[in-house]
Amino acid sequence: MARSLRSWLGGCLLVSALGMVPPPENVRIHSVNFKSILKWEAPAFPKGNLTFTAQYQSYRKFQDLCTRTRGTECDFSHLSKYGDHTLRVRAELADQHSAWVNITFCPVADTVIGPPGIHMEALADSLHIRFLAPRIEKEHESWTMANIYNSWVYNMQYWKNGSDEKHPVTCQYDVEVLRNLQPWTTYCVEVQMFVPELNKSGEWSEPVCAQTVSDDSAPSWVVVVVVLGSSVGTCLLLTGCLALLWCIYKRTKYTVSPGNALPQHLKEFLSHPHHNKLLFFSFPPSEENEVFDKLSVVTEVSESGKRDSGDSDSLRTPAGGVSPSSY
Ligand SMILES: *[C@@H]1O[C@H](CO)[C@@H](O)[C@H](O)[C@H]1NC(C)=O
Ligand SMILES: *[C@@H]1O[C@H](CO)[C@@H](O)[C@H](O)[C@H]1NC(C)=O
Ligand SMILES: *[C@@H]1O[C@H](CO)[C@@H](O)[C@H](O)[C@H]1NC(C)=O
Ligand SMILES: *[C@@H]1O[C@H](CO)[C@@H](O)[C@H](O)[C@H]1NC(C)=O
Repeated sequence: MARSLRSWLGGCLLVSALGMVPPPENVRIHSVNFKSILKWEAPAFPKGNLTFTAQYQSYRKFQDLCTRTRGTECDFSHLSKYGDHTLRVRAELADQHSAWVNITFCPVADTVIGPPGIHMEALADSLHIRFLAPRIEKEHESWTMANIYNSWVYNMQYWKNGSDEKHPVTCQYDVEVLRNLQPWTTYCVEVQMFVPELNKSGEWSEPVCAQTVSDDSAPSWVVVVVVLGSSVGTCLLLTGCLALLWCIYKRTKYTVSPGNALPQHLKEFLSHPHHNKLLFFSFPPSEENEVFDKLSVVTEVSESGKRDSGDSDSLRTPAGGVSPSSY
């Protein structure tokens, strides 16, 4: 309250004394996963509503990004992730303006690494954990914070739910398995990204919890009983199958005598050459007959064509049309 009163008084003083517009206050950049917003507060200024212009430096020249905006923030997410950038903002009223307020911003170093995601699955007395690197704003889905930094690790810690004792684990990869945990116990896990070369820690994720099931290693007598039981069962099943097959074989032998497996009419049908072929090519019978007749006629017609070349008879057969009836 006192601060705003002071700045309001200061603003009045400046305007009245020098006719100047006070600069924006509390200018800072808020950047998470490369979503980078320059924010500021409007100074107290009784003479009218101020507007603001925010710029970034590009090749020694300043470029406007937000021009004469009434808002108090400007999105600089499109800036290159590498290198230092100079950003600046000023307040304006009509043709008067404040001094610039400058800020330097190096996205790759300054942006906050958001919390990673966690996929966790309990298998017996172990927990299988997969970390999902935070996604980058306005980039393709497959492009994550893990692609930006040369080296990173996941700092994980896990604890028994209800216990205060947290166990830290440093994970080089995005999968991790915690083994030999207590059965039927709920464990919770949280994780942050860490970039060693920049000594840069990301934000911690929300804890994710899962319950282990039961110890995998059953007592050895159980194993023996299970193995024995299943072998005996398999033997019985095999014997049963063999007996059944034998019965079926016997019955079939008495009903259908060997060598007479096909009914008589089917045998005759197949012994006929045409039908044999029919069955082989599985063409519809009527079409097959026509095609077969045509094929055998071609040679005859070509001969008769030669013979009839000077004859008026050739006019009676349509040109090229060799019908089965001419056979
Ligand atoms: C300032 O803005 C408010 C609305 O945001 C408006 O009602 C008011 O008239 C404006 N004042 C001037 C001096 O333009
Ligand atoms: C901001 O930067 C400009 C040039 O880049 C400089 O002239 C000005 O003095 C700086 N202002 C402050 C408050 O540092
Ligand atoms: C963890 O334990 C607390 C009590 O200590 C319980 O209320 C909570 O539901 C537990 N969370 C999980 C995920 O089991
Ligand atoms: C790394 O950063 C932490 C705080 O985040 C600090 O305590 C520590 O001294 C830093 N280490 C190095 C080597 O700069």
